[in-house]
Formats: sequence, C-alpha cells, structure tokens
Amino acid sequence: MTNPTAAVLGLGAMGSAITACLRDTGHATVVWNRTAAKTEPHAEAGSRAAATVAEAVTAADVVLVVLFDHASVREHLEPVAAELKGRTLVNLTTTTPNQARATAAWAAEHGLTYLDGAIMATPDMIGTPASRLLYSGDRSAYDTARALLETLGAADYQGEDAGLASLKDMALLTAMYQMFGGLFQAVAMMRTVGATAADTAGEVGGWLGAILPHLGRFGAELDRAAHNSGDHDPARGQDVDFARAAVGALITAAREQGVGADLLEPLMRHLDELAATGRGTADWISVADQLPIA
Ligand SMILES: NC(=O)c1ccc[n+]([C@@H]2O[C@H](COP(=O)([O-])OP(=O)(O)OC[C@H]3O[C@@H](n4cnc5c(N)ncnc54)[C@H](OP(=O)(O)O)[C@@H]3O)[C@@H](O)[C@H]2O)c1
Repeated sequence: MTNPTAAVLGLGAMGSAITACLRDTGHATVVWNRTAAKTEPHAEAGSRAAATVAEAVTAADVVLVVLFDHASVREHLEPVAAELKGRTLVNLTTTTPNQARATAAWAAEHGLTYLDGAIMATPDMIGTPASRLLYSGDRSAYDTARALLETLGAADYQGEDAGLASLKDMALLTAMYQMFGGLFQAVAMMRTVGATAADTAGEVGGWLGAILPHLGRFGAELDRAAHNSGDHDPARGQDVDFARAAVGALITAAREQGVGADLLEPLMRHLDELAATGRGTADWISVADQLPIA
C-alpha cells in the first residue's frame, strides 16, 4: 500500500521538522508557507512547493497544519473548506482547548474530517523515540491518519472531545513553565553571590531529578483525598503550616538578596488562604484543591 500524501501548511521550525520526517519515512509531501522562500529548501529535498493553500490541500490525502496560532489557522483554512472535503485535516498548531473545539465545530459544519493535535516535542525530537504527540476529536480521522502520524512520534489518542489533546498540552506546559520559572528565580538568587547561571542550572537539574519521584506520591495522595471528600487531614506529608514557613523563608531569602519573589507569592497566597480557613494542619498538597474557580 502506498503512503498517503501529506500537505504541510507552515514551514517554521516545527513544520519544517515534520516535513523532513515525513519525507524521510517515504511520504510524498506538498508544502505551503506564507513566506514562500521557506519552501525552497524543501523543494530541493524532494517536496512539492505549492503557491497557495488550496493547491497544497488538493494535492494531499492528509493535511497537517503547523501555523503560529488559532487565528492564523482559521485565516488560512476557512477559504479552503470546499477543497478540504474528503481529506483528513490534522491541526498541530498550539491552541487552547476551546479554540480546538471551535475549529472542530467549524469543520463539522463543513462536513470535514478533523483531528486536533498537540506536539509534546521540540523540532529536533520529531521522528525520534523522545517525540510524543497527543490527538483528540474524530476517532475515524485518527485511525485513518495514524500510520502517518506515528512516523512523527508516539501517537496518543485522548478522546472524542477535540479539546482534550490541547488541554493536556496546556497542563503539561503549565508545569514546565512553572519549573523554568523556578530555575530563573534560583539563577537570580545565586547570581547575587557570583554563581554562574550554568552552575545553578546544573544544581537545579540535579535537585529536581532527586525529588521527581515525589510527583507520583503527590498524585496518588490527591486522588485518595478526592475519594474521601477532599479530606487531607491529618497531613500525611508536609502540612500547610510547615509549607507556609518554608515558602515564607524562600520569599524572605530572595528579598534579602535583593531579588523579587513575585513568582513564589501566588503559591504563598494559596497557603495563607488554607491556613486562614482552618486548614493549617491539612496536607499542603491540598493547594491543588484550592485552584478551581467557583
Ligand atoms: N517549536 C517548538 O518547540 C514547538 C513545540 C510544540 C508545538 N509547537 C507549535 O507548532 C506551531 C509552529 O511552531 P514553530 O516552532 O514552527 O514556529 P515558528 O518557527 O515561529 O514558525 C511559525 C510559522 O507560522 C507561520 N505564521 C505565523 N503567522 C502566520 C499567519 N498569520 N499566517 C500564516 N502563517 C503564519 C510562519 O510563517 P512565515 O514563515 O511566513 O513567518 C511560520 O511558518 C506553533 O503553534 C507552536 O506552538 C512548537
């Protein structure tokens, strides 16, 4: 059986890596990019360069969209709804869950086969075992495109709700950005005594590696408490009062060194709120239960 032909819309760092990977795995590729010059190296490497989105779409079985954001996706897909009919449309552009659902609803209105995707990889990881992509929406679209999608990285279908891949992407990226925020705070503190950022990054990496196993324990404990009406009392680990003292010391130490503590202050506010509502002896991980907005 011949491989499906893929159109790739968007040849930034990610679209280029995806196109190269598809070519390397024996797929015919047709590429379009707003700035046409970016199609040239791909044409030299064997892809077909399309002058318009419509030309790219009509040449393909599977259309992969790797543009900048939701607005650019809608701007370029809406005029080619008719051409997209009968093809499998996979949007890998990072969007919010509701934006993914809105694009899925638009696709359904036009009778299009639509799958939303989220890339848990950097461009250099595409096509390697370290690459994982999440998908959600039309299950038959996923099944149709699956073999092609699996060339990009592990393919992980999340469910029929088109927003699910994006939601998990956003949750994982939230944890990642908070971790990087922690690194920047540590670098700023250690620079006050002349430590290089590289040294601090090495120290932070070692420390985070050592405490990473706690994530699984926290998750299990949060689930256990959720099944017991949110009861975190008595604390199995650190309690709220202990965590308030610990995080309070971090904030004080940063300020003593002349470094802002505004990345830590929101966490402290949640701990204060728990203490103020009589939860000082609850497990501090109950901060997770404080976050939903009523
Ligand atoms: N890079 C990563 O590590 C990574 C990881 C996961 C997910 N992603 C997601 O993958 C998508 C692409 O990222 P990237 O790294 O390839 O970004 P990038 O290198 O900055 O490229 C952006 C692409 O979007 C195009 N674009 C921007 N605005 C446009 C518009 N209004 N109309 C048409 N095209 C437009 C650019 O075209 P021009 O060449 O004409 O400017 C270019 O092809 C993003 O949604 C990103 O969040 C990236």
